[in-house]
Amino acid sequence: MSTVTKGISMFVLAILILALLVMIVLGFMLGFTHPLPWILIAVLVAIPWIHDKIVSRRFVKWDSAMSVGNAEIDKDHKKLLSMINQLQTAAHYKTDADEIGEIMDELVAYTRYHFEREENLMQQHHYAGFNAHKQQHEAMIKQVAKFYDEYRVDQTRTIESVAQFLKTWLVNHIYGSDQEYAPLLKDKK
Ligand SMILES: [Fe+2]
Repeated sequence: MSTVTKGISMFVLAILILALLVMIVLGFMLGFTHPLPWILIAVLVAIPWIHDKIVSRRFVKWDSAMSVGNAEIDKDHKKLLSMINQLQTAAHYKTDADEIGEIMDELVAYTRYHFEREENLMQQHHYAGFNAHKQQHEAMIKQVAKFYDEYRVDQTRTIESVAQFLKTWLVNHIYGSDQEYAPLLKDKK
């Protein structure tokens, strides 16, 4: 979400809260026993909860079906998913490019570290699909670097689209290609 869009949505939210407050005051003029102001109060109280629900729907959660049966790799995958969620939260709530840059750098560094660990294990245990899998990792790193370079040059581009790409790619990769090596690398160190 760009800064302008973020500003507009906060403005709309503020107007909505203000309108509800006015309607509640006017509603009480109908009498304290009238249900309308109480219903409006309930709506007002529910706004932060609804907002949190909408925001959290964007987050990706670990699912046991994602497990590849290897504790170290599962741990890496969980950490990567939580880092992507952290990036999305930062992109949603903060506009500080330096802070977003730090999270992004950590995420890319950890992704590289994880890919290396996975590739070493595959090689060590002579995984037949090693080359194709390594190519997928390399293409992903290249794509993220390209997106991130574009963001650095032009920050009106949203970091959320980078986070979205990372999330979709990683989830599809864990459910797809990573499951193909799972029987071979199960419980391997
Ligand atoms: Fe992988």
